[in-house]
Amino acid sequence: TIQAVIFDLDGVITDTAEHHYLAWKAIADELDIHFTRAFNENLKGVSRMDSLKLLLSQADTPVQFTDKEMEELADRKNKLYQSLIESITPSDILPGVAEFTAELQRRGIKTAIASASKNAFTVMNSLGLTNAFDIIVDAAKIKNTKPDPEVFSTAAELLGVEPSHCVGVEDAAAGVQAIKAAGMFAVAIGAKEAFPQADLVLSSTSELDYAKIEGLFIANS
Ligand code: G6P
Ligand code: MG
Repeated sequence: TIQAVIFDLDGVITDTAEHHYLAWKAIADELDIHFTRAFNENLKGVSRMDSLKLLLSQADTPVQFTDKEMEELADRKNKLYQSLIESITPSDILPGVAEFTAELQRRGIKTAIASASKNAFTVMNSLGLTNAFDIIVDAAKIKNTKPDPEVFSTAAELLGVEPSHCVGVEDAAAGVQAIKAAGMFAVAIGAKEAFPQADLVLSSTSELDYAKIEGLFIANS
């Protein structure tokens, strides 16, 4: 049986994946690096510094930055990101999310947020969702980021639920890998062909449907 559902934040609860993209795009433009939306898919779920490294790997001629310069670039991206998310309100919760979490609550199923973002608490606060989930994992305490399972395993541990009774919801390839590595049922949001490892792929959050997920969960276990 499903005892907990653990959600990614950016791109699942709200469309901050777009804000991350826009902030990285501004940095790439500044550095004259070609940075496409398609390539940005690789950055989803990936930590700030690793995202910067991926972005820099797109330079035509390899550029060398000192650690300090790397820190400054990452910091500048974060400041841009933070200015973009200042205007977030509860109306930015993605369609279907409130209904789905309400259904989970009615059924006594626990909920958590497992995000790699150090801005997760701010975003959750702006969405008015801080108290709507049992646990929000603190990204600052996670050593190994997605695709490592640590953030999902930590969420399950904090909820006191075995991974085999957990469902993870993600919009990133690295995130789905993390869910599967944690031994959980994986629901991906996005294009089917992008998530070969997922147990269920939904084209949008408005498709989140407890009965459908439970049916597949039971069939798979
Ligand atoms: C999430 C997002 C990534 C972001 C990461 C770190 O996983 O999907 O795009 O790079 O969090 O976010 P932060 O807010 O700490 O830079
Ligand atoms: Mg995401």
